[in-house]
Amino acid sequence: MAIDRLIIFDTTLRDGEQSPGASMTRDEKVRIAKMLEKMGVDVIEAGFAIASVGDFESVRAVAEAVKGSTICSLARTGAEDIDRAAEALRPAESGRIHTFIATSPIHMEYKLRMAPDNVVERAVAAVKHARNLIGDVEFSCEDASRSEYDFLCRIIEQVINAGARTINLPDTVGYGEPGEYGAMVARLMNSVPNADKAIFSVHCHNDLGLAVANSLSAVMHGARQVECTINGLGERAGNASLEELVMAVRTRADIFPVEVSVDATQIVPTSRLVSSITGFPVQPNKAIVGANAFAHESGIHQDGVLKYRETYEIMRAEDVGWNANKLVLGKHSGRAAFKARLEELGITLENQAALNLAFTRFKELADKKHEIFDEDLQALMSDVQPAE
Ligand code: KIV
Ligand code: ZN
Repeated sequence: MAIDRLIIFDTTLRDGEQSPGASMTRDEKVRIAKMLEKMGVDVIEAGFAIASVGDFESVRAVAEAVKGSTICSLARTGAEDIDRAAEALRPAESGRIHTFIATSPIHMEYKLRMAPDNVVERAVAAVKHARNLIGDVEFSCEDASRSEYDFLCRIIEQVINAGARTINLPDTVGYGEPGEYGAMVARLMNSVPNADKAIFSVHCHNDLGLAVANSLSAVMHGARQVECTINGLGERAGNASLEELVMAVRTRADIFPVEVSVDATQIVPTSRLVSSITGFPVQPNKAIVGANAFAHESGIHQDGVLKYRETYEIMRAEDVGWNANKLVLGKHSGRAAFKARLEELGITLENQAALNLAFTRFKELADKKHEIFDEDLQALMSDVQPAE
């Protein structure tokens, strides 16, 4: 099976920021962008240059500060939007304009109030205009998952002829279902006559909790760019989460024929930075970056992990930037984890009877307290086994 590269396009600073309450200052965006660059993200969508002076300045500041990733600005199809994006991207070593227009009947009729023919004309004019200003142009069919197939074929063929090199198929309202969405990507890639001249990209929202599943299904069916955000931040229920996508394709390399260039050890530090800047906490059970993602509490699991980590771990905590996995001591914990933690604290028990007594006391305490910390253990042990 040939291995392709999967382009990681991060939109934390643009779609992530569209999450109500998540707005970021220019300097905060630069800090996050520098972390994304360090992580090796291929494309950073830094903002929507025409949206405000602040957004323009943020795109420009990121374009000045980051040289290791392509910097992108969003733009609607109007010439003014595109000019503003190009202006903000001027300092970029590698810049991209991402222009979009809605293609679904519901958006064309009620939002744009435009006939489909006019939508195609505008899209083509926008891509041509952008290509006169920059070499790298992405075109998005907003609400692609609710668009008519024949119309998508038509507009995609024409924007590729106009110079778009990435075609993005957003599931704007998180309506897609993995089988159907992946099949749509494959069918378009097979039937648009000039499809081989562009990279097909996906951008999934999480309204039904399917953003990552839909993106992965698209990758299986040929998409080679995924648009995503740190911690899954984004409009409404958010976007596909970068950390989940990267670790899914890495961990299941047996079924995903793609490579990602991301340094996964930067995932947890970047997640923390985004969380502290936006003030959006990460839920403890969030995959990869949640505090409990690599924590084991039950005795059976702890015993297994102590004997051989892979019994209950499909990834290593260290590989995504945690210090180590965590055996949480609580009422479900077993003797093996209890003894191992005592040993880590330098406490050795004289014999089996001492261990039994200490373990009984530990269980009594665990029934009263959610989690037993090292200080609890030290206090308990000085009771059970006083120092001579
Ligand atoms: O969700 C969406 O359709 C978007 C586009 C602007 C790419 O964010
Ligand atoms: Zn979006």
